[in-house]
Amino acid sequence: MNELILEMRGITKSFFGVLANDNVNLMVNRGEIHALLGENGAGKTTLMNILTGLYKPDSGEIVISGKKVTFASPRDAIKSGIGMVHQNFRLVDSLTVSENVILGLNDIHRFLNIQEIHEAIGNFSKKYGLNIDPKAEIWQLSVGERQRVEILKMLYRKVGLLILDEPTAVLTPQEVVDLFSSLRNMAQEGKTVIIITHKLNEVMEIADRITVLRGGKSVATMLKKDITRQELARIMVGREIPKVLSRRCVMSEENVLELTGIKALNDRGMEALSGLSVCVRKGEILGIAGVAGNGQKELVEVIAGLRPTLAGSMKINGKNLTNCKPGDIINAGVAIVPEDRVGMGLAQNFNVIENLIVKTYRDSENSRRGFLNWKHLRKNAEKIVKDFDIKTAGVFSPVKLMSGGNQQKLLFARETSKKPSLLVAAYPCRGLDLGATHAVHQILLSQKEQGTGILLISEDLDELLNLADRIAVIYEGKITGIVVPGKASIEQIGLMMCGGGKECIS
Ligand SMILES: Nc1ncnc2c1ncn2[C@@H]1O[C@H](COP(=O)(O)OP(=O)(O)O)[C@@H](O)[C@H]1O
Ligand SMILES: [Mg+2]
Repeated sequence: MNELILEMRGITKSFFGVLANDNVNLMVNRGEIHALLGENGAGKTTLMNILTGLYKPDSGEIVISGKKVTFASPRDAIKSGIGMVHQNFRLVDSLTVSENVILGLNDIHRFLNIQEIHEAIGNFSKKYGLNIDPKAEIWQLSVGERQRVEILKMLYRKVGLLILDEPTAVLTPQEVVDLFSSLRNMAQEGKTVIIITHKLNEVMEIADRITVLRGGKSVATMLKKDITRQELARIMVGREIPKVLSRRCVMSEENVLELTGIKALNDRGMEALSGLSVCVRKGEILGIAGVAGNGQKELVEVIAGLRPTLAGSMKINGKNLTNCKPGDIINAGVAIVPEDRVGMGLAQNFNVIENLIVKTYRDSENSRRGFLNWKHLRKNAEKIVKDFDIKTAGVFSPVKLMSGGNQQKLLFARETSKKPSLLVAAYPCRGLDLGATHAVHQILLSQKEQGTGILLISEDLDELLNLADRIAVIYEGKITGIVVPGKASIEQIGLMMCGGGKECIS
C-alpha cells in the first residue's frame, strides 16, 4: 500500500519576474526513491529549496504525512524530518567528521561525549554503507567522502526524507555505485529519498518513480518500470532527441600536440601537473577523463600559454612552443573552448558580430584602413548563425541574451572558423541541455573528420566513450593510462580515475 509522505500542490515561485516554479505538483510515497528530473533551469533546486524552508513560495501548499506545513527555515524542515544535501557542501574544514555532524544542533547537552558521537556515526556509516572515519578532519577527505558527511549529518538528525541535489556531479563512477547502494539501503529501511538529476542513465538506474520538470512546470510523474529512456528524454526536453552519432576513424599517426613531462603549479603554488605526457594525433578526439581538480584546468592553461611550464616541453605540429605567448600559440593553429565560456570565452555585452571578430578584426576581409567592413561582417555572421543553428534575436543583439547552448555554439563557430590543427574543449557540454549537447557533439565529430586533433576534457564518461578515439585518464597531474573505448569498461576507467588499475589498454 502506497502512503503519501509528501504532497506539494500548486507551488509557484518567481524571482524578479523569472517564473522558476509554475504551479508545480509533486507527490512522493514513503520509502521510495523519487527522481526529480529536468534540464538545467527547469526549477528543481528551487522546488526543493521551497520544501526545506529556504525560500517561501508565492503560492501553493505543502503537506507532510497528511499535515499542512510551512517551514520558516531548513532547521524547521529538519525538525519535521526533511533534510537536504546541497550541491555546495557546508562543512567546516578544520573540524572532524563527528564535530561537523553535531555542529548546529542545539539540543546537544553540556556533557558532550565525543567518543559516543564517534560511535553513533560509525554505526550509521556501517548500517548504510557510508564508509568514513568519524575522527578524520574534513580537509583530509575527498569530495565523495565529504558528501557522505553531509548525508550522515542528516541521518544523525533522524530525517525520514532525504533530498540530494545533483549528488553524482562530483563523484567518480565507483563512488556513484557506492552512493546508489547506500540510497537503496536507506529506502529499504523505510526512508524516502528525492534525488535531483538531469542524467537519464541515473534515473533509469536508481529511481522507483520519476517526476519531470520542464520550464518550471511539472509535466509528468510515472513509475520507472513503465517508461523507456528514450521516452523519458522526450518528456524532459519536450521534443524528439536524435539517437546515435555516426562516427568514423580518420586518425593519422601525425601528432598535432605533444606534451612531454609537463610540470606546472596551480594558483595556490602547489604542483598541479607533475610530469604529464600525452599526444593528440591529427584527426582524433583524445578524451581526458578524470575527477575535476586533478590538473585539467592547469593543463588547458599550459596549452593556451596562460600558465608557465616549469619542466617538460610542448610541441604543436612538431614545433617547440613551450612557454610561448598565447598569441604565438593561436597563430600555430590552436583553438580553445575554455571551461568558463561566460568569463573567458565570450564578452557578454558584445553582440554576435563583435564576439565573432574579437581575434580577427584586423584581417583584410574584416576591415580596411582601420574601418570595419560591416556589410561583410554581417553577412558572415548571419551565415554562421544559420550553419550552426544558433538561436538569437539577431547578429546585433548582445550574447548575454542567448541561452548557454547557443552561446556555446557561437564560441565553437568562432574557434573552428580558422580551421585549427588542435582544438581544446574543456567540459563543452557542461550545463547544456540534450539538444545543445547533441549539436556540440556533431561539431566535434565534424571538426575531427576535417583533420583537426581534438583534446576533449569531460567529466561525463558516457560522452567520452561515445566521442573519443582514445581516452587518457588524468589523476593527480599525470596521465595514468590510455584506453580505447570498447576495450575498457566504465568500471576500469573509474578505477584509474581514482589512481588504481594503472594498466595501459591501448
Ligand atoms: N535565487 C535566485 N534568484 C534569481 N533567479 C533564480 C534564483 N534561483 C533560481 N533562479 C532561476 O530560476 C530558474 C530555475 O532555477 P533552478 O531551480 O536552479 O533550476 P534547476 O535546479 O532545475 O537547474 C532559473 O531560470 C534560474 O535562473
Ligand atoms: Mg539545480
